[in-house]
Amino acid sequence: MIKQISLFGSRLKYGLIQAPLAGYSTSPFRRWLKRHGAEVTFSEMISADGLLRVPEKQKRYFEFHDDERPIALQLFGSDAGNIAGAVKILLPLRPEIIDLNMACPVRKVVRRGSGAALLEKPDQAYALAVAACEAAGDIPVTVKCRLDSGHGVGLAKLLKRFAEAGVTAVTLHPRTMKQAYRGTADRQAFRELAADSPLPLIYSGDIKSGAETPAVYEQTDAAALMIGRAAIGNPWIFEEARAALAGETYQPPAWKAKVKELLAFRDDLLVLFGEGKGVLEIRKFVGHFLRGQKGARRFVQDFYKAKDPVAQDKVLAEFLETVDSI
Ligand SMILES: Cc1cc2nc3c(=O)[nH]c(=O)nc-3n(C[C@H](O)[C@H](O)[C@H](O)COP(=O)(O)O)c2cc1C
Repeated sequence: MIKQISLFGSRLKYGLIQAPLAGYSTSPFRRWLKRHGAEVTFSEMISADGLLRVPEKQKRYFEFHDDERPIALQLFGSDAGNIAGAVKILLPLRPEIIDLNMACPVRKVVRRGSGAALLEKPDQAYALAVAACEAAGDIPVTVKCRLDSGHGVGLAKLLKRFAEAGVTAVTLHPRTMKQAYRGTADRQAFRELAADSPLPLIYSGDIKSGAETPAVYEQTDAAALMIGRAAIGNPWIFEEARAALAGETYQPPAWKAKVKELLAFRDDLLVLFGEGKGVLEIRKFVGHFLRGQKGARRFVQDFYKAKDPVAQDKVLAEFLETVDSI
C-alpha cells in the first residue's frame, strides 16, 4: 500500500502530510511531527492582509527551519492583489508550496469573504488562485478547501478552474462550511470528486489513528492523506501510519520516552514564545498527549495548575511513577 507519489516536486513514499492547525502548528510542532514521519509540514493560516501591513508581527507563523521541509506556507485573504503581494513576501524563504486557505469556517474569517466563503464565489476563488500562481513563479501553489454548500457540485467545477489557473493539487476536508467540525467527513463525496478531478486531491478529515490509513486510501482514492487533530500531542501517529501502510506491526514507544519528547517539545516552545507564554502553550497539548490513558485526568489538571517548567516536569514525573510500561 506504499504510495510512492510525486507531489509538488517532492517524492512522498506514504503520502502523509501534517494538516495546518491554527494555534498548534508552530515550528517546534512541525519539527516534532517531521521527526516521526510526516512527509510534508504546514504552517497555520497566515493573513495576507496582515502580512502586507506588518510582516514582522507574522514572523512566528511563517519562519521555519530547513528540517521542516518540504513545507507549505498557507495564506488566507479575499483580495487577489493582497494575495499576490503576500506571496512575494514569502518567496525569499523558498517554501516548497504556497497554499491558499479556502477551508476555514470561522466567522471572523468568512465574514470578510476569506476561507470557506470563497467556495460560494467561484470567480473570486479563481482570481485568487491565478494571482497566487503568477506571483509564486516556480513554487507550486495548492488550495485547501471544503465541500461547497451544494455538496460538491460547485467544487467539481472549481477544481477544473483551479487546474486552468495553474494550481498543482487541492486538499479537501469533505465537510461544508456550515457543518464546521460537526458530523463526519464525507469520504464518499470525496471519492466522487477525486474521480472527476483534473488535480490530485489530498484527503483531510477524521483520521484518528495510523492503523486506519490504508482503509482511508481505499475509501477515498486520495493522492495523499493529511492528519490534523489526531497528531496533536501524538506525533507517533505518523510512525503508526507508515507501519500500517507498509504492512508492518507497530510498537509505540514507552511512556518514559514519550514524556521525554513532550518535555523537549515544551522546551522548544519556551524558546519560541518565551517562558511565560511557552508554559501556557504546552498545556494545549497535554490532554491530547495523555488521551486514553487510565487515571490521566488528574495529571492533566495538575499540569494546568503548574506555573513553571520545573512544576510541569514534576507532574509528568509523578505520572511516570503510576504507569507500568516504562
Ligand atoms: C484547531 C484547528 C485549527 C485549524 N487551523 C487550520 C488552518 O490554519 N488552516 C487550514 O487549512 N485548516 C485548519 N484546520 C483544519 C484542519 O487542517 C483539518 O482539515 C481538519 O481539522 C480535519 O482534519 P482532522 O480531522 O485530521 O483534524 C484547523 C482545524 C482545527 C481543529
